[in-house]
Amino acid sequence: ATMAAGVPLAAFAQKKKIVLGFSQIGAESEWRTANTESIKSAAKEAGIELKFSDAQQKQENQIKAIRSFIAQRVDVIAFSPVVESGWETVLREAKAAGIPVILTDRAVNVKDDSLWVTFMGSDFLEEGRKAGRWLVEKMKDVKGDVNIVELQGTVGSAPAIDRKRGFEEIIKTDPKFKIIRSQTGDFTRAKGKEVMEAFLKAEGRKINVLYAHNDDMAIGAIQAIEEAGLKPAQDIIIISIDAVKGAFEAMMAGKLNVTVECSPLLGPQLMQAVKDLMAGKTLPKRIVTEEGIFPMEVAAKEFPNRKY
Ligand code: AHR
Repeated sequence: ATMAAGVPLAAFAQKKKIVLGFSQIGAESEWRTANTESIKSAAKEAGIELKFSDAQQKQENQIKAIRSFIAQRVDVIAFSPVVESGWETVLREAKAAGIPVILTDRAVNVKDDSLWVTFMGSDFLEEGRKAGRWLVEKMKDVKGDVNIVELQGTVGSAPAIDRKRGFEEIIKTDPKFKIIRSQTGDFTRAKGKEVMEAFLKAEGRKINVLYAHNDDMAIGAIQAIEEAGLKPAQDIIIISIDAVKGAFEAMMAGKLNVTVECSPLLGPQLMQAVKDLMAGKTLPKRIVTEEGIFPMEVAAKEFPNRKY
């Protein structure tokens, strides 16, 4: 039989597992935890060796992780970039080393698109628009001002930038909609609560609507609203994004009006892309996740179907 350095070739081929280096943002939200779980279990299922690194929401840690994946000569690098900008140098290093890079969940802002192979994930701009359209419809009979406070995601991140832009694009068609406060809550419950407390202190009963860029911040804010003696989803209409189980629970308790879906279950798709890449196939540059929107009226019926 054919041998390579004393090892039969067939055995050699079988032993070579694909190695994927994945740099995750952190564990800032229920969404992110579900995303990590999806990637880990899909890698196992696909027989791909996963080198997983948690950046604790710091770009510098992600850059370090990517450099270490390059040094280890992994087959493919995938990552979910915490912010959009500042990736040129490290991505050029990966390209120079001949290691393909897949973007999952969030995009990067680089001039040279050949620095990454494909980007799979949600259309954040459209999510913002869906939130805006829901609000416009909900408030169509309201004559006076609709005062909105906004809890933004991580500063400089693709979802924070696009969800703000998409929402504004829709509500600006009617001048009665006014964003009176807008600040980051960094996609976490604790920060969402803290910033909502400050909004309530400053604006009090003037606030008609809360638009939160994710469910976790909305859930934190709900606590602040209740502690201020107000009724969430009644005194203040609340819109958020992700559609995690926690949001369904809040809707079933009558405390959240609507959540726009953003699926974290990217693991199986990512592993398929890695395999295709290693098999020499060309991947589409953009793979968009399909998503819906869930108002509180359908929460109880939909809850048993939720996977995250
Ligand atoms: O990039 C996706 C966003 O990141 C989710 O909406 C948010 O919950 C997460 O932290």
